[in-house]
Amino acid sequence: MNGKVLIVDDEAGIRDVLKTYMEYEGYNVSTAADGLEAYEKASSETYDVILSDIQMPQMDGLTLVEKVHSVQPDTVIILMTGYASVNTAVEAIQKDVFDYIMKPFQNMYSVVQTIERGIERKRLFQERRTLIDDLRRTNDELTYNRGLLTKRVQEIDTELARRIERMSTLYDISQSISSVTDIEKLMSLIMDRIAGIIKDSVGVFWLVDSERTRLCKVVSIGLKGQDRLPGSIDIHEGEVGETLREGRTRVFKQGVQFSDARLLKLYEQEHISSMIMVPLQYETQLLGVLNILFRNGYEITDDDISMIKAVADQASVSIKNAELFAAQQRMFRETIEALATAIDSRDHYTSGHSFMVTEYSLAIARELDFDEERLELIRVAGLLHDIGKIGISDNILNKPGRLTDEEMEVIKSHPVLGRTIIESIGSLKQVANIVYHHHEHYGGGGYPEGLTGEDIPFESRILQVADIFHALTSDRIYRKAMPLNKAISILKEGQGTVTDPELTQLFLDLVEKGDIPLAVEQAPLVEQGI
Ligand SMILES: [Fe+2]
Ligand SMILES: [Fe+2]
Repeated sequence: MNGKVLIVDDEAGIRDVLKTYMEYEGYNVSTAADGLEAYEKASSETYDVILSDIQMPQMDGLTLVEKVHSVQPDTVIILMTGYASVNTAVEAIQKDVFDYIMKPFQNMYSVVQTIERGIERKRLFQERRTLIDDLRRTNDELTYNRGLLTKRVQEIDTELARRIERMSTLYDISQSISSVTDIEKLMSLIMDRIAGIIKDSVGVFWLVDSERTRLCKVVSIGLKGQDRLPGSIDIHEGEVGETLREGRTRVFKQGVQFSDARLLKLYEQEHISSMIMVPLQYETQLLGVLNILFRNGYEITDDDISMIKAVADQASVSIKNAELFAAQQRMFRETIEALATAIDSRDHYTSGHSFMVTEYSLAIARELDFDEERLELIRVAGLLHDIGKIGISDNILNKPGRLTDEEMEVIKSHPVLGRTIIESIGSLKQVANIVYHHHEHYGGGGYPEGLTGEDIPFESRILQVADIFHALTSDRIYRKAMPLNKAISILKEGQGTVTDPELTQLFLDLVEKGDIPLAVEQAPLVEQGI
């Protein structure tokens, strides 16, 4: 094994002998005459082993050990001396001297062996150092990778949370809009959900009008100046119309374009910097455009585009459903009104009775803040309350004179008959029950069941007040319409015995305020002494 050796001794003879011998053994050998020279050489060149005398001029061997190890910590140093003392030996060991050789040398071969062991030690040192360096590097890389991994896991977590949020928004939208039949409510709900997910987003729903010539703004959300948005725009012009006609989603990532100056100005003032326009269509029918706009340099992602397109698809189905529902409602209402007209036409003298009773009942219900669903119940029940009269013969219904007891019984059968007719329509079960009880008396003694007080359905009690008031204030076959003050006093007389006292009071207040249109023209109440 070859190695680089520095021999340090102030005696030239020893230096030369050792140099010659070591070179003969194949070592690369340099020499120095004292510690200082050796230190200078070790500062510019690396040696595997330094074989140094202890006592030398300028710098002794022990100082040299310290100095060399400060610049070359791995260099192995072997000391040699002819005057070894215990103190020197202890000091040498403390200074990390590898070995100690006594002069004069007994056996040159043992000197070579010591140097050889020194070189082996140096090699082990270096190996250990390389291993430590490798370990440290691996550790650093692991720490770095772990950091990267943690960051990536966090990114995936965030991405996952965002996706879950979007998925649940879509699910939420599909769940909540499937039951909404009011188009405006539907659009507001969708826009609210989108704004909840994408910060800085605002939106406008444009829907095609019935003439299919204009796009009407149905709902806009999030714009400070939304009142300045035009109510409608031409379907054949501009970017919104184009999106609809082409049936293609358009994405404006850098700035928005509008040939309509009003839109452009408004959106500029609102700092709109990007937008998506999605056509709303159901099969081949074009319904409108969903325009989602973003403020403050928001960068539209592919996820945003897919989410908004999915929302637009759902919205299109719901708009179509809402349209169908509205058409059905219209048809239903027309049918009920046609029935009411048929009922009223049976009784020649009280034409319009069903419509007027409905109007009065609705006035009471509105005063009680009924919701739209309950108002509809009142409307249908009012229009159909006397439908049972369809089954009563004209002779009895339009008899000018007093009715016999038997005829009266026939008349009294109309709520029962009415219930039977209405019950046959499955969705009108509640209406059937209201109609059935519209001739009950609050204090008892009414028909058909003779129920009292709150056992009578609330809606039936409302109809009853309206029914009696209209009967009193309209011309009948057997008498003319009563003056208003008389009708009021009759209602008051029956308050609590015939009719619900609170509902009667509420209605009378409306009459006094002039909120109830009368069947027959009458002088104002003041002139009638009330
Ligand atoms: Fe009736
Ligand atoms: Fe009636």
